[in-house]
Amino acid sequence: MVTEKLYIVMVGLPARGKSTIATRLKENLNKNHIKTRIFNNGQLRRQITRMNTTTPEFYAPDNKTGVELRERIALINLNRAKRYLENNGHVAILDATNVSLKRRIMIASMLKDAPILFIECINNDHSILEASIWRKIMLPEFQNLDKDAAFESFTQRIQYYESIYKPLATERNFIKLDSLNNRILKEEITDTIPYYDLLRDFLVTDTVKNLFLIRHGETTFNLEDRIGGDSSLTAKGMAQAEALARYFTKKKIPVIFTSKKKRTVQTAQPIAAKQKDCVIIPLEEFNEIHSGVCECMSYEEIRKKMPEVYYARRKDKYNYVYPGGEGYITMKERIDRGIKKALYLTGGSDNIMIIGHRAVNRMILSHFLYRRTEDVPYIYIPQDKFYHIVATQTKKLFQLRPYQ
Ligand code: F6P
Repeated sequence: MVTEKLYIVMVGLPARGKSTIATRLKENLNKNHIKTRIFNNGQLRRQITRMNTTTPEFYAPDNKTGVELRERIALINLNRAKRYLENNGHVAILDATNVSLKRRIMIASMLKDAPILFIECINNDHSILEASIWRKIMLPEFQNLDKDAAFESFTQRIQYYESIYKPLATERNFIKLDSLNNRILKEEITDTIPYYDLLRDFLVTDTVKNLFLIRHGETTFNLEDRIGGDSSLTAKGMAQAEALARYFTKKKIPVIFTSKKKRTVQTAQPIAAKQKDCVIIPLEEFNEIHSGVCECMSYEEIRKKMPEVYYARRKDKYNYVYPGGEGYITMKERIDRGIKKALYLTGGSDNIMIIGHRAVNRMILSHFLYRRTEDVPYIYIPQDKFYHIVATQTKKLFQLRPYQ
């Protein structure tokens, strides 16, 4: 019988992945029969106030009305969390920025009935933050602003929070987490924290609930057996994209990641068009292997014109790097970055989709499914089937499925 109680208090600037981590903790704890609930200040603010809270000034530390309202919301959630633990809850997660020392002192003074574990989410990767802000401003609360104004407004909001930000240092129990790489940067634990080992494991494990990994449809280059380039889909490729679109109407796909190449975006477009709210995010991390001096050539041409390249690659495909281009080995870093970006930006969504290329999809598969490196460049990546991947604490699934 589990009886121990715990408060988890999230800390971090906006768009640092706090809610994603909070949701991951909640879902995993609940699966382990540890009753957990999230108390999110932003959500409560949107529920209880009709005030326009998208203007950055609302978050200015010297805006009395804004500060008062946000403190009132924080108090409501603190009281709700307390009541939850007094009743039958085990873990209450307070999800808010909580970046000022003043706020954290207030929290510690109010929550004395159970230990508090502070978790600070840190991510200073500029390109991911930018993409994350673009995702945030798709929330209904920004609908009254045009995209650039909304971006500006959110960036200014972050700056206001930065001006009062005091990283965790003196709190009794805390973890500083690199929330992009799921890595613990620092931990200080003074009290006995229930479920600590479990929580620690959830924090560092990359989870993906349903990843649909698709290769773009047939292209004109595929027909000619040419590699690289930026060719378009053929009529058959378009029909494959339409078939995928029909197949996935049964599922909710909020985001599709593609490369920056036409063929992946053209495959994504019909799928997104058949979904209710779906955005396409092209990432250059998912661009196909760059074959340097061999770009746009066919394998036959390479064999005839550059036999040394052709045979050296055949001998050791994983480690071979095209002159002036890439190899599987040198793609690894960017593909891993792309996966991290995608997981971060989808914030624990149930379904995510990546439309990539042959070599790219092999590398993505090998990220989740251990394969010997020498076998990776030979993984089967067809155009008439997709991979369904699940990688959570309790389930691992890899399925190659037809869509038509
Ligand atoms: O032929 C399609 C393609 O995606 C090329 O653009 C790329 O160079 C190649 O597949 C990667 O496959 P392999 O590593 O087997 O040559």
